[in-house]
Formats: sequence, structure tokens, C-alpha cells
Amino acid sequence: MLQLGIIGTGAIAHHFIAAAHQTKHYQLAAIYSRTMESAKAFAERYQQSLQLYTDMEEFLTSTIDILYIASPNSLHHGQAKAALLAGKHVIIEKPAVTRPEEWADLVTIAKEKQVFVFEAARNYHEQAFTTISDFLVDKEIWGAHFSYAKYSSKMPDLLDGKTPNVFSSQFAGGALMDLGIYPVYASVRLFGAPISARYTAQQLPNTVDLNGSGQLMYPNFQVTIQTGKNIHSSLPAEIYTNQGTLVLDTIEHISSAIFHPLKGEAEVLAITQAPHTMLEEARQFATMIEQPQPELYENWLAAAQAVHTTLYRMRQDAQIYFEGEPHENDTSC
Ligand SMILES: NC(=O)c1ccc[n+]([C@@H]2O[C@H](COP(=O)([O-])OP(=O)(O)OC[C@H]3O[C@@H](n4cnc5c(N)ncnc54)[C@H](OP(=O)(O)O)[C@@H]3O)[C@@H](O)[C@H]2O)c1
Repeated sequence: MLQLGIIGTGAIAHHFIAAAHQTKHYQLAAIYSRTMESAKAFAERYQQSLQLYTDMEEFLTSTIDILYIASPNSLHHGQAKAALLAGKHVIIEKPAVTRPEEWADLVTIAKEKQVFVFEAARNYHEQAFTTISDFLVDKEIWGAHFSYAKYSSKMPDLLDGKTPNVFSSQFAGGALMDLGIYPVYASVRLFGAPISARYTAQQLPNTVDLNGSGQLMYPNFQVTIQTGKNIHSSLPAEIYTNQGTLVLDTIEHISSAIFHPLKGEAEVLAITQAPHTMLEEARQFATMIEQPQPELYENWLAAAQAVHTTLYRMRQDAQIYFEGEPHENDTSC
């Protein structure tokens, strides 16, 4: 049983713990929070006695085996690095990093320390994508359209003149980093790393994006990406092939995939949606630690590298710059 520690006491950490416990591979053991008050409030939901920490060093030298990091985005790299150096396996919420070199850095440290690093990109680990890949294997891909946009619960604060973390430049927020990462992961999962990428966005004065659309370029086709946090999209996903169009109800937590051939009857693919959005990733991470599959693990690491390279290119194209990042319009350096 993997002894699980948590950094970040937001709602998503409770969701992950529920999924982790459902797998029966993890046992929640410790919580790190900036304040004892929020650590205690978070722990109240659980029956067992938990170790609570406000000191990161003490937390990282405790008996936990694996950490789940669900803090604001820009803190992930530093916290994950410290945890890996302390010899812990690490699951980092998406986006695990804000720049591709940070991911390469974490992978190097994890290998040196002989521990695993995972990005909690939950849709990448859905069994549905294996079914879809298998179905597409004899077809020529001619393009795709992947959309993921949800009106954020933090929009009222933003409209009130506040800057919630998810819209802040300090914490590497914005639609692309928060939700656009799912369509990018879907594309990398199905078609591999794109050769280049574009993005145009509606942006705040701090350059962070509210919504936007872009293209991922492959040698013979393009994938159109749409994302947003000030809009809501109900568009299904479409994959265009030489034999017809495959329509998915969504690109995360997929429950249906229907192929509409150029001629003939529609074909329904056998998709089984997991009962919890985070169950499949939680199970796969635990299985990888307990029965390592080096080739598969390398695929996950390479996919994350491709995703972060792509997100970075898209940000550069739209001129989205996070706090402390040098950029061409910056007059301070
Ligand atoms: N996979 C999914 O479906 C999913 C869904 C939602 C979010 N996420 C990801 O989960 C992560 C957290 O998102 P969230 O919306 O929960 O973020 P958040 O509410 O801004 O922060 C999460 C936690 O991080 C700590 N924190 C907040 N501000 C901090 C600061 N200034 N310095 C240090 N720690 C701070 C807080 O815990 P303490 O007060 O206890 O320190 C807080 O509860 C993000 O990376 C997001 O992309 C994933």
C-alpha cells in the first residue's frame, strides 16, 4: 500500500484521494498545508489519524512514499523537485510545469533518485484512447477538432476586479494552461508530438488568456484546439479520416465514440467510462510503481515533454508571459 502525502488542500485533492482510495493501492497518510488550520480542516473528512505538516522539510522526510501536488501551477516545479530529491515518487497536477525545460529537469532528477514522476493529465490515461487509437490504425488522419472550455467558478471574482490564482500571471494561470492542456494531451496521445503550434487568444492585461483557439501542425494534417474559462463549450470532438469522421462526446472522461463513415451505417465504439474522472490515472501510476513497465513509462515522459513544448510554443505565439519570464515587450531588462 502506497503511503500518500498531499500538498495543496483545494477541492481537487479530495477528488484525487477518493480515486486513489478506490484503487486500493494508496492510503492517505500525511498533509502539508501553509497553515495548521487548513490542514486540520482538510483532514476532518477522513477517519484515520493523519500526519499534518506546515514545515515542508519535515513533511518530505516523513514516511510517505508518494506525493500528490495540487498547489497553484507555478509552484509545482519547485515542490516536485524538492520531493524527488527527498526520494519520494511524485504525482503533479496538470500542468506539471510551465516550461518544457522544467519537465526535463524533473525527469533527470527522478531517474537519478530512482523514483517515478507522473503528470496527473487524467485524460491521457483513459482506456478510451487505446480503443480509439486501435480503431484509427487503418485510417488516414486528415485532421481533428478538440474543444474544452468551461465557464470558471472564479469568473465572478475576476469580474469584481480580483485576480484569482487561475487567472494570475504569478501562478501561471489561464485557459490554455488550465484546460487547453487536455486537448493538447488528447492530440499527443492519438497522433504524437506536433511539429509546430499556433495560438491566438482573448487576453487580460497581464497577458493571461481567457479563451483562445489554435492549431497543432502535423506533417499531413492539423488539429484545431479551442479552450476557454470565460466561455462554455458543448462541442463534441471530431477526428477526420479518409474513411469518415469519428465523433467523441468530449476529450476528457469520454463516454461515447461514434464513427460516421463516408458511406453506410454509423458504428458505435465500445467505450467504458470510468466511474471517477481520476480513477484510471491513479490506478496506472500505482501499477507503474509496483510493476514497472519501462517502455510505457518512457512514453508517458515523452508525451509530457511534447505537451509542454507545445504549450510553451502556443504561449509564445499568443505572447502569454508569466511573472518573471523574460519577453520581447519587456522593457525592464
Ligand atoms: N485534474 C483536474 O481535474 C483538476 C481540477 C482542478 C484543479 N486542478 C489542478 O490542481 C492545481 C490546484 O488547483 P486549485 O484550483 O485547487 O488551486 P488553488 O485553489 O489556487 O490552490 C490549491 C491549494 O494550494 C495552496 N495554495 C494556494 N495559494 C497558494 C500560495 N499563494 N502559495 C502556496 N500555496 C498556495 C492552498 O493550500 P494550503 O492553503 O493548504 O496551503 C490551496 O488550497 C492546479 O494545478 C490545477 O490545474 C486539476
